[in-house]
Amino acid sequence: MDQSYLVAAFDEKFGSTPQLLARAPGRVNLLGEHVDYNDGPVLPAAIDRAVYLAGSAAEPDFVHLHALDLGQQISFSLDNLEAKQDIHGKPLPTWALYPAGVAWATKHSGRQVSGLQAAYTSDVPIGAGLSSSAAVEMAFAITWQEINGWLADRMSLAKLCQQAENTYVGVSSGVMDQFASAHGVRYHALLLDTRSLEWETVALPEDVLLVIADSGGRRSLATSAYNERRADCEKAVSILRQDLPKIQSLRDVSSQEFYQLGEKLPPLVRMRAAHVIGEIERVFSAVAALRAGDLNTFGELMYAGHASLRDLYQVSTPELDALVDIAAGIPGCIGARLTGAGFGGCTINLVLQEFVETFIHDLQKGYRQRTGLESQIYLCQASHGAGRIS
Ligand code: GLA
Repeated sequence: MDQSYLVAAFDEKFGSTPQLLARAPGRVNLLGEHVDYNDGPVLPAAIDRAVYLAGSAAEPDFVHLHALDLGQQISFSLDNLEAKQDIHGKPLPTWALYPAGVAWATKHSGRQVSGLQAAYTSDVPIGAGLSSSAAVEMAFAITWQEINGWLADRMSLAKLCQQAENTYVGVSSGVMDQFASAHGVRYHALLLDTRSLEWETVALPEDVLLVIADSGGRRSLATSAYNERRADCEKAVSILRQDLPKIQSLRDVSSQEFYQLGEKLPPLVRMRAAHVIGEIERVFSAVAALRAGDLNTFGELMYAGHASLRDLYQVSTPELDALVDIAAGIPGCIGARLTGAGFGGCTINLVLQEFVETFIHDLQKGYRQRTGLESQIYLCQASHGAGRIS
């Protein structure tokens, strides 16, 4: 990222040099999909694509934003965040809800939020399942932290941004995306237990690359479908609790118990729960395999995870299925699956370095032949987490 571009853009919009620059990465999830709101384990990595923000403190109580990639600007008051309106009384557009939500959640937590001038740009593709919105949230959280001089640990920042998304934006997401953006470690995946919030790093083999393939599809009803999935999981818990009174979430249900009791659930709810319970087991097995250097098993678990998201959780698309199916037949591909919430977006492919060029070529060609569509490829490395960069 060319920092001088961002500084020049800020200067052009606000007529001054920014006080700080912040960076917050997107993430890819290697395994553990739709389990972070079921207290399960997840295995994301921050990627080397990020939101870059130039900011300065401004007149009290006003926030002035320039979303450079969208070519849009907005100003809103910090005194009236609940209204979700700009200073002219117009509803905030969706892109502005994320920064406004962070301001709202920060205030709510009792921390200071000052007025702000900010210009930002991002190379995390929007709506592609790579957590572009968590990266925006985290960039603003870091900026307000720096400008106001309060200190919060990274997990608190992640939870604050999650609250912005849950309560202000209205998506009932788990904490995985904000966690990964805040905690990324170069060349490592992050194993997070979303119940205890304990986490550890898992080294990725040096000769394996993260190849992210964009299906190009974006589904507009993703938010309501996501919230529905979450409600289905809660319903499963409430029914299973009649026999298993101690369970708090699907994390507490073993596959043995589910085998015995699953029939009590309505068919769709049973399918959702079956995915979650299987996926939680897959993450633990996959981490053990990765640590033992058993890449084949890791890859098999990725394919199994995709099949489960496709058939049981029903969040895949024909395009994502085509990408995974084609990838599985290309030499050097260890494993492939959809990443993120699904409903369109990207697949993650673990590919041996020496095969990566032919892999990308064959995947794009195969996708074009099968669907008539182009797949954009993002070749990524696991990167460090969010922070001030100058
Ligand atoms: C989105 C949410 C995450 C997680 C994934 C699915 O990215 O923001 O919290 O639930 O979907 O694993």
